[in-house]
Amino acid sequence: MKKIALGVCSSISIYKACEIIRLFQSEGLGVRVIMTEKATRFIQPYLFTSLTGERTIVELFDDGQRPIEHISLVDEISLLLIAPATANIIAKMASGVADDFLSTFYLAVKCPVLVAPAMNEAMYLHPQTQENIKKLKALGVNFVEPESGYLACGKQGPGRLASPRTIVDHSLRLIRSREAFRGKVVLVTAGPTREFLDPVRFLSNPSSGKMGYELAREAFQLGAEVILVSGPTYFEPPAGVHLEKVTTAEEMKQAVLKHYPRADVVLMAAAVADFRFCGNFREKLRKQDIRPVLEVEPTPDILEELGRRKERQLLVGFAAETGELREKAAEKMTRKGVDLMVANDVSGQETGFASDDNEVLLIWPDGRSRKIPRMSKRKISQEIMKEIEVLLNERRRQI
Ligand code: CTP
Repeated sequence: MKKIALGVCSSISIYKACEIIRLFQSEGLGVRVIMTEKATRFIQPYLFTSLTGERTIVELFDDGQRPIEHISLVDEISLLLIAPATANIIAKMASGVADDFLSTFYLAVKCPVLVAPAMNEAMYLHPQTQENIKKLKALGVNFVEPESGYLACGKQGPGRLASPRTIVDHSLRLIRSREAFRGKVVLVTAGPTREFLDPVRFLSNPSSGKMGYELAREAFQLGAEVILVSGPTYFEPPAGVHLEKVTTAEEMKQAVLKHYPRADVVLMAAAVADFRFCGNFREKLRKQDIRPVLEVEPTPDILEELGRRKERQLLVGFAAETGELREKAAEKMTRKGVDLMVANDVSGQETGFASDDNEVLLIWPDGRSRKIPRMSKRKISQEIMKEIEVLLNERRRQI
């Protein structure tokens, strides 16, 4: 099991470190906490010891018993994350000062280092802090930008610790990144589209967007540059992805085609509405003015268009069916020029649209197929991306 060393400094946002630990643990990662002396004024080390099941380190000399613990811990960890990181620790790191366990440990580690700053906005924007950050970036240290918003000091501006989910996603990218995805552009579509009759009525479907968002998160963690074109959903965009929000199939098509030439992989996980109304009214229609039978026309088939324009892109399609899964998905795969089809039966209550779990059948154009049994959409996205990695590696060998 890989372990993370979590350096915790004295900041009001220190409580977020608990959530960070929980998130790492839910990913199957162990955490060892290192606190600065001043951080212990906010929280007792025992809280972190209880959460992690491992003694929290504060002192460089642990009662004189294990003076070189920082050296042995170096070999056990795959990432040093400092969150929250104060202006002080950043300054010490930038100048190589090693006067406590955390700053000494930083000089000793060989693994990637990620820093999540948290401080008053004036301190963050101070040229000295910015200079220190620049210097550390040049030395290969990674940063998660702080968010802008209300700060504990009552001021507003950049300096608020990034959200635990964002910090953990950036951390995972540093330890899970794969060669096949580095430098690659992955374009993901997600969610439903809405085709409006008038400002208050539309045609759509029950897609929540979860599958697409999980795929985007996974692609980011594996090291890709990710563009997420999303229809209306209630999810927060995953960390590090470039999000483009769209509403209609036509808007989704325009956004996808704009990014298509740069894309190496396209995952069309969106549930694009198949039809739109002939006529879209700007003003709300009165009930009595709407005829009981409304005329519709097909929306553009984005995936089919991508198939026609395909050059080097790897196209992944999704097929939501309610029976004859394999046959229908295989037909769509051929018709749309897809390199991998992800088929799922949406007739079940526990899987498919708007549920947390899914069960899918992967189909390749050469006739191969693989069933992925019921599991969370997060896990399914990991399995799909593993197969995409295989396809990317095969292509690289062919070049
Ligand atoms: N798709 C698309 N544009 C559309 C409709 C679908 O790009 N207008 C994409 C979906 O994102 C998905 C794949 O095509 O990746 C298959 O979608 P699906 O709705 O299952 O297939 P359809 O072609 O719409 O066929 P049908 O509704 O007749 O089953």
